[in-house]
Amino acid sequence: MHAKRLLGATVAGLLATAGAVILAGSADAATTLGASAAARDGRVFGTAVAAGKLSDSAYTTILDREFNAVTPENEMKIDATEPQQNVFTYTNADRIVAHAVAAGQKVRGHTLAWHSQQPGWMQSMSGSALRSAMINHITQVMTHFKGKITWWDVVNEAYADSGGGRRSSNLQSTGNDWIEVAFKTARAADPNAKLCYNDYNTDNWSAAKTQGVYSMVKDFKARGVPIDCVGFQTHLTGGSSYPSNYRTTLSSFAALGVDVHITELDITNAPTGAYTSVVNDCLAVARCTDITVWGIRDSDSWRSGESPLLFTSSGAKKAAYTAVLTALNNGTSPTTPTSGPTSGPTSGPTTPPAGSCSASITPGTVWADRYNTSVTVTGSDTWTVVIQITSPQKVSTTWSGTFSWSGGGYTMTVKPNGSGNTFGFTTMTNGNTSARPQITSCTT
Ligand code: G3I
Repeated sequence: MHAKRLLGATVAGLLATAGAVILAGSADAATTLGASAAARDGRVFGTAVAAGKLSDSAYTTILDREFNAVTPENEMKIDATEPQQNVFTYTNADRIVAHAVAAGQKVRGHTLAWHSQQPGWMQSMSGSALRSAMINHITQVMTHFKGKITWWDVVNEAYADSGGGRRSSNLQSTGNDWIEVAFKTARAADPNAKLCYNDYNTDNWSAAKTQGVYSMVKDFKARGVPIDCVGFQTHLTGGSSYPSNYRTTLSSFAALGVDVHITELDITNAPTGAYTSVVNDCLAVARCTDITVWGIRDSDSWRSGESPLLFTSSGAKKAAYTAVLTALNNGTSPTTPTSGPTSGPTSGPTTPPAGSCSASITPGTVWADRYNTSVTVTGSDTWTVVIQITSPQKVSTTWSGTFSWSGGGYTMTVKPNGSGNTFGFTTMTNGNTSARPQITSCTT
């Protein structure tokens, strides 16, 4: 197992806005992870699945109720599908695919070219023989599953843990072009599958490994090497390991023109804060279309001793489950309630006490050069919200409020314009893709 060490990080920032509260879910909020993700612009919420557990009804009950995508945990790896050269076995992988199809779940294929879990015959290969074997493996396996796999992790974990360069492996020794050859082979084998590069410890934007993968994807896009998506495994070691620049990582890769996926999420002891932040960061990036946890119950986890998942070993929903569902339901694109109270309170204060309002930020769509933010005020209809923008970012568009500026154009004061208690604005990043608006005060 590789060490999962992330650079210094804090959970600061995204939800730490002073005085902010999270938007309440809408009256028709979804009650399962998959349905809630689907309501967020068709995203999926998936899980790793083990074929051997498909006969466990406690397991499949949760699987089919909660998730709208699956990733075979081990059954599509090279040692599983080609145990002897040119002898392919698909029994366990086929079981997972059949179950997923019956349950209406999408399938992520994992994985076609990897230094690990190679069968013995491949481990001892090198040079052009290994290159040919890799091409044959990708072609055969993708052809078998053609039409049934939405995304393939074509290449897994090809970057070194430090330094930003490639990992040493027998595949790397066949030539630096092995990754692009794998992707070109994959595109030819199943032109309809989305082709992803997948790795771990690429969550922190400042990490050399993250930058190494980013450079590769940028180069591939510039040269027309087929790549559609990048998977961030996001095996975090606890709340302190969530990198505060995670959203920058996701949005920066997305800006290259690839979808970004959180492919193997688990967090030591399942802290609600870090899980919430990961979901909010994904929802804030339009091209972050998949959040997949690496197993259902803690007992299903590859590191079960750390209880990193959303369900207890007996199948009960953990606090992290509720946090994730709540974050999904709050979403980046707040829904307009279709029903609500038809009458208000018959008695109560007519004027809220001074300073009693509160304002909460909901991150919106992120583009390469700008992003949206909406703010909802609760507690009063006569409010004044002050928001600080970080230079060199600049607000370019506003809506649903009365806006005025001070502090050199970086302090924004907003009052109602009669259209409700939610307003919004677009901020140009001007090169700073990590800063986000901070609410300074909400007064009445
Ligand atoms: O099924 C056999 C069992 O029959 C045998 O008795 C036992 C003895 O070792 O091994 C069992 O197989 C194990 C298998 O998991 C199923 O539990 C393998 O030894 C073990 O190596 C394998 O570990 C998997 C690991 O990848 C291998 O690299 C984990 O389940 C799987 O969760 C993990 O997944 C990886 C992703 O593919 C890539 N990213 C990192 C992630 C976590 O390491």
